[in-house]
Amino acid sequence: MPSSIRRRDFLKLGSASIALSSVVVTRHRALLAQQPVTESGLIVRTETPYNAETALAKLNERWLTPTSSFFVRSHGNVPKLEQKGFTLTLEGLVNQPRQLSLAELTERFELASVTATLTCSGNRRTEFNRVKKVPGVQWDAGAIGNAEWRGVRLSEVLKRVGVQPGAKHVWFEGLDQITEKGETFPFGGSIPLEKAMSDTAAAPGCLLATLMNGKPLTPEHGFPLRTIVPGFIGARSVKWLSRITVSDQPSPNHYLAHAYKLITEDTPQAVHDAAPIYEYSLNSIICSPSPQAAVAGAALTVKGIALPSGRIGQAIKRVEVSTDAGETWHPAKVTSPVREFCWVHWAAEVPLTPKTESLLVRAVSSDDESQPRETPWNLKGYQYNGWHRVTVKPAS
Ligand code: MTE
Repeated sequence: MPSSIRRRDFLKLGSASIALSSVVVTRHRALLAQQPVTESGLIVRTETPYNAETALAKLNERWLTPTSSFFVRSHGNVPKLEQKGFTLTLEGLVNQPRQLSLAELTERFELASVTATLTCSGNRRTEFNRVKKVPGVQWDAGAIGNAEWRGVRLSEVLKRVGVQPGAKHVWFEGLDQITEKGETFPFGGSIPLEKAMSDTAAAPGCLLATLMNGKPLTPEHGFPLRTIVPGFIGARSVKWLSRITVSDQPSPNHYLAHAYKLITEDTPQAVHDAAPIYEYSLNSIICSPSPQAAVAGAALTVKGIALPSGRIGQAIKRVEVSTDAGETWHPAKVTSPVREFCWVHWAAEVPLTPKTESLLVRAVSSDDESQPRETPWNLKGYQYNGWHRVTVKPAS
């Protein structure tokens, strides 16, 4: 568990509740027992390896998620690295293989920045459990965050070392160690070379990032160097990056070749046949009110986030909320900045009736793609993007 999130944070929350009325305290304790929320707004899903998601109410507070509230997904240890002595190796189908220190990387290349939403492909995984339980970290909807990242464009670095003909993929490897089925190996993966070179005015195809929200990356977010691949699932944004290999093949690393694929049966053939997931899907989430909130009156303000799919050029066209199980839909207004590869925050005033038992949200993107009512089940629980539902109850 990182030093910023300690048991005392839970204790503080516990003692804060003493001032509340006994009824509220009991309910508050019951909620805490289910999901302790740290002072910075994280819900720790597993301590080793360290995995934590952002409480939904916190997600909606700021368009740029503070680093201390940003979800963490780690498959293995969080390496304790020093800036001194750290090197990035560039190899494979390049004319000039080389090793660069962090200073060489940041001084020899122009600094670039991008605001981009990072989301784990397993975000909302628990919603697949309604069909059949899926293994893995049991994420609700908070494995997502939006941050400003700064570093150097991968495209610039690749142009400098010279990419050879026949190159098609760029592999990344981190410095963490993961043990699976008796084997120990680093986290890694790859992106198509085309994506790496696809810088737009809004965003680099891939950033080699050293800063998050204006400060050096924290250990759990990849200090001192990570990739940020705007539009791609979080797994492609490799933390503790130490090696880049240019190749004519996708990476053989477990997290590209085997995991992060949509399969319904775990056979070597099914895994082989399935393509790696790259772009994340169109999604939207209700952040407030909270599940089981007591609601009263004739109207209610509902708030949340919506994310266009990670394909280049996509934007959110519409967000709609329903209070009658999807019979009628009410438009929401975007309340935040709008940028490519970023979520938007939205708010909607919706009518309430005594029969309202739940709230639903769905988004439509600029290419007229709509979120499905339910996402077809897959074995590893990736890319859930069905209509998000929050149950409410009438205030008594
Ligand atoms: N990089 C390394 N080296 N090891 C990891 O376990 N997890 C990946 C990615 N990069 C991972 C990694 C996954 S699955 C996600 S969703 C993002 O990091 C999460 O980034 P964050 O922890 O900074 O939010």
